[in-house]
Amino acid sequence: LTQAEQRITGRARLAGVLGWPVGHSRSPLLHNYWLRRYGVDGAYVPLPVKPEDFATAVQGLKAAGFRGANVTIPHKEAAYRIADVLDESARRAGAVNTLVFEADGSIRGLSTDGDGFVASLKAEGLKLARLDRHGGLAQPHALLLGAGGAARSIAAALQATGMRVSVTNRTRDRADALVEALPGLGVCPWEDWEKALGAYDLLVNTTSLGMEGGPDPAFCPSLKAAGRGLVVADIVYVPRKTPLLAEAERQGLQTLGGLGMLLHQARLGFLEWFGVNPEVDDATRDYVLRG
Ligand code: ATR
Repeated sequence: LTQAEQRITGRARLAGVLGWPVGHSRSPLLHNYWLRRYGVDGAYVPLPVKPEDFATAVQGLKAAGFRGANVTIPHKEAAYRIADVLDESARRAGAVNTLVFEADGSIRGLSTDGDGFVASLKAEGLKLARLDRHGGLAQPHALLLGAGGAARSIAAALQATGMRVSVTNRTRDRADALVEALPGLGVCPWEDWEKALGAYDLLVNTTSLGMEGGPDPAFCPSLKAAGRGLVVADIVYVPRKTPLLAEAERQGLQTLGGLGMLLHQARLGFLEWFGVNPEVDDATRDYVLRG
């Protein structure tokens, strides 16, 4: 770090991350990096809070003058319930990962995951325009692998950009439940999605398949049926290049790793609490990856 030194005065702005456990979270590292980089008088701390203590902890942070907090496993549903006001992003996602304590005492809940994904896609300059048979622009179509919380927030954010979105999930019931929550969503049977890839412009793995230490780190589906313009994205960022992304590169497809989404969703919270829109660049990526 060569820029401004860390400043924590009596007027410091405070935020943190509530989780149980929370020791693995990279958020403190990232936010304190940005605080130093932009010379902001503030601090961001890990807050290990048991599920049964969540509401007490939130009220305590609010009473202590915190600006807000990130919320991670297992508190996302409790955070949704505790918010007095839900942003459009949180309503769409049915979840809250960011709390903002407003000056009037109310608690605002946001879901920054989906918007973080869309911001990451845009920041990388990946354009999803495709031409229809008459040479005009057709509505791009995204396929999401998975139907959990991450899938819901990304699907909702992509729909909000005007994209057509479908999901495919090992457990069909969960895909159907997602369609109930997000009208207009399509479903592709899990057995068929590899063969059906030619119909899509964007593929997003929202599961932990391919993650180091996850259920199947070697996860590498066939992308043979993909069209040339397909963008392949993964929300997994450890390893940085998952087998899925490596396969996409071998096929000459455009790829997007998961680190960008992590950083952009954090950026949205940072802006809310600290009033600065921090840059997501290579220096930030390197710093967070070094751990
Ligand atoms: P999150 O909220 O982070 O998205 P989640 O709700 O646990 O996490 O969802 C995990 C997703 O990964 C689900 O879509 C899950 O599929 P199921 O609904 O069939 O469980 C998917 N997933 C996890 N392990 C998987 C595996 N081995 N094969 C296929 N899908 C898997």
